[in-house]
Amino acid sequence: MIKKITTYKEKNFDLPEIDGISEKQIKVHLGLYAGYVAHVNKINNFIASTEDGDQMYPASETFRRFGFEYNGMRNHEHYFGALVGGPKEIKDSKLKQLIETSFQSMDGCKDIIKKIAKNMRGSGWIMMHYDKQTDDIILNWVTNHEVGQTTALQPILAIDMWEHAYMVDYLPSDKLKYVDAYLKAINWETVSEKFDSYLN
Ligand SMILES: [Fe+2]
Repeated sequence: MIKKITTYKEKNFDLPEIDGISEKQIKVHLGLYAGYVAHVNKINNFIASTEDGDQMYPASETFRRFGFEYNGMRNHEHYFGALVGGPKEIKDSKLKQLIETSFQSMDGCKDIIKKIAKNMRGSGWIMMHYDKQTDDIILNWVTNHEVGQTTALQPILAIDMWEHAYMVDYLPSDKLKYVDAYLKAINWETVSEKFDSYLN
């Protein structure tokens, strides 16, 4: 099979101390993120090495698997990236305006995120996206890393709701404490800059 192999590299996140999410939890979680990067590369190498038509069945299953590993990698980059620089409130910006239009206020938005978290049965991600076509902010639940991903929407936030994201610190019954800690730790200036990059 002729295909250029893109090799992905782990991103480094210079993370501050996070109130409510321990250093050990973050360290374990970053290790899992590294695993997704490694598996994206393994999949790409496997696909590129599959030349025999008889091997197309495992290759096609590997194509299917790609979405799991790739989104696992990228979702974690949104997750950790939003924590770099420490907590910062959102400034007056288009993102702030859209959130306030969609959810009445930042607190209203956070309340809905917490309600989604409270009612999630199973793991996955709470995603915040920008829909450029309708100029709207959308929250949704992505199962695993890829089921429920929304084509053409731009990811703004990815809140990891897999148990591995919080079980060093919290029992599943206390997962809302973890969500609250994450929401308080977000650097909204960084998040807004990412949002702005989608406007061009
Ligand atoms: Fe995770």
